[in-house]
Amino acid sequence: MPNPIFGVDYYPEHWPEERWPLDARLMRGAGINTVRLAEFAWSRLEPAAGRFDFGWLDRAIGVLAGEGMRIILGTPTAAPPAWLIHAAPEILPVNEEGQRAEFGMRRHYCPSQPAFHAATRQIVTALAEHYGRLPMVFAWQIDNELGSISNGHRCHCATCRAAFATWLRERYGSLEEMNRRWGTVFWSQEYSAWEQIPTPIQKYGVNEGNAHNPSLYLDFARFSSESWVRYQAIQLRILREHCPGRLITHNMMGLFPFVDYAALARPLDVVSWDNYPRLPTPWSPLAGDWNPTRAAQASDLLRGIKGRTFWVMEEQAGPSGWGILSPTPLPGEVRLWTLQAIARGAEGIVYFRWRTGRFGTEQFWHGVLPHDGQPGRRYEEISRVGRDVQQLGGLVSAALPVEAAVLRSYDALWAFMAQPQTTQLRYDDQIDRYYRALWRRQVPVDLITDGRLLSPYRLVIAPCLFVAPDELVERLRDWVESGGTLVLTFRSGVKDAFNCVIEAPLPGPFAALAGITVRDYTTLLPVGSGTLSAGETLVAFNSADDDAVVGADTWLDEVTPADAEVLATYQGGPYAGSPAITVHRMGVGAVVYVGASLDDAGHNMLLGHLLRLASVPPGPAMPEGVEAIRRVYEGLDYWFLLNHGSQAREIQLPADGTDMLTGSMVRGSVMLEGLDALVVRVEQGRQE
Ligand code: GAL
Ligand code: ZN
Repeated sequence: MPNPIFGVDYYPEHWPEERWPLDARLMRGAGINTVRLAEFAWSRLEPAAGRFDFGWLDRAIGVLAGEGMRIILGTPTAAPPAWLIHAAPEILPVNEEGQRAEFGMRRHYCPSQPAFHAATRQIVTALAEHYGRLPMVFAWQIDNELGSISNGHRCHCATCRAAFATWLRERYGSLEEMNRRWGTVFWSQEYSAWEQIPTPIQKYGVNEGNAHNPSLYLDFARFSSESWVRYQAIQLRILREHCPGRLITHNMMGLFPFVDYAALARPLDVVSWDNYPRLPTPWSPLAGDWNPTRAAQASDLLRGIKGRTFWVMEEQAGPSGWGILSPTPLPGEVRLWTLQAIARGAEGIVYFRWRTGRFGTEQFWHGVLPHDGQPGRRYEEISRVGRDVQQLGGLVSAALPVEAAVLRSYDALWAFMAQPQTTQLRYDDQIDRYYRALWRRQVPVDLITDGRLLSPYRLVIAPCLFVAPDELVERLRDWVESGGTLVLTFRSGVKDAFNCVIEAPLPGPFAALAGITVRDYTTLLPVGSGTLSAGETLVAFNSADDDAVVGADTWLDEVTPADAEVLATYQGGPYAGSPAITVHRMGVGAVVYVGASLDDAGHNMLLGHLLRLASVPPGPAMPEGVEAIRRVYEGLDYWFLLNHGSQAREIQLPADGTDMLTGSMVRGSVMLEGLDALVVRVEQGRQE
């Protein structure tokens, strides 16, 4: 395995064979050592059922290997070929509106379909038998971006419906138990046979008043996520059998919400993800207007779910675009994004894609080379990163010391999809508000998704932990009792594992831990919506060292302390004079309860308290837009310093040392150019 992995996604099947040698030479010239191949090439690998043609791929691998490339081979199942769909149209998924997908996009398959499982076994086995022991193939990528279907979010076909019923039977044992847990007495929904249970075809904001039972919805979301994990397992088993010693990965989509990535990651050797900082996605509207915290957060999730470094399998190399193009990355931006990913734990970088395609849906998804195939500005920039990466060497696999975590629960994510609570409340936005505050203070964090591995952390922030299964509550309680500092907010402890409301004062199972109850709550409509309930409320911190007044929006809890101290109080609004934020000290540990959705100033102020309470040191002070990350490698400290702004900034180095990218000594305060980075090796050892 090349170390570091520095690669491109390449589609030799899109180009004349005579061109391949030049491509391979150019790759080598840019410092590329790895190529991902074949993840959409099913129709060329198996042109008809059971008839395989690996000749072209053998030759492509031969040409690439001749220039020193190592290969990550993709299984091509994200793009089932026309002959397969024609023979077994039931493979096409059915979306929320009951429409069956049509052939001719991609991801047009249902993960539960027996016919698709059979076809998958056939192509993956053939590929694995052919390439499993080839020395240059050091890794495999299963499928491509599991978790979505071409025409919607989750499959609702008859097979999925039956599989869902089986899943429910295994989970609940009996219909009586399921009916009781779901509260199906509401609206005469009691089921007397498993076959009666539907899949929830619910679109948000539409027909809300007639919507499905939230318990059904959450279980279907869990089932649907697991159906991808199970589908991945089919391929994994085959690859494990035929590809001894090879690393198996899957390319995930960062903050994509429809699959529990921790569950998907568990059986893999290494996780990877596709980093498109400029791609606006429906699930991440913040992205169009890019801010560097989003890619950072996705990296922290990918590192958090596996507890180790990861790969970027597709790093944006140029302007993105299907029908609509994103702005072209400014000179230096692609390099900066790459170094950011490396700083936060990417030990491999693979650019999407080598050459911009001439045909198909992704004609305008720009690669390293433009349409005409001539090396240009992007080729130069990536060659420069190639040199940077060589300088970094083994540092890319170094430890990233982390003492804080943000808990982003898939149960909460899914439960809020069904019941967002207010048009203003978005679970990911609440996570983002805390995340951005941590980012501004240069506090390294992991994103975690459940309570399984809390021991490495001193501080865990769990915004809006809407669904609180007993197991999770117990884990958090044990961890606080052993000294952890836990942050809970409004809309926590509202629901049990079955998505029914808990029969206790809020925050339900967390009330004793937080030392408070919530006496009343209200949503806040946006300023200007013209009602008495609209507007911002002020929250005043009342500790001696700051008397700041900050803003709150979206949601307010009237907090009644039992034995918690008051950290901040509402000024004005419906709960004027009532506590808004409290701290409950429990031995060494503490639980902070935040009753309102705070603005940036509020999160900055709050974070100061949290870091002191949890004894987590803030990172070095940096000007706005500059990111600082510490890695520890072979007993030495390294600082990645990244300027995401376009203006040069004067920064105070966390420590003097050598810039690994230029080899020059840097000390004291230095100017860091816009969209530029420094990687400082601190010669005098650990700076605690
Ligand atoms: C990724 C996907 C690639 C390509 C890329 C750019 O999400 O894995 O196949 O589509 O986006 O569009
Ligand atoms: Zn299905």
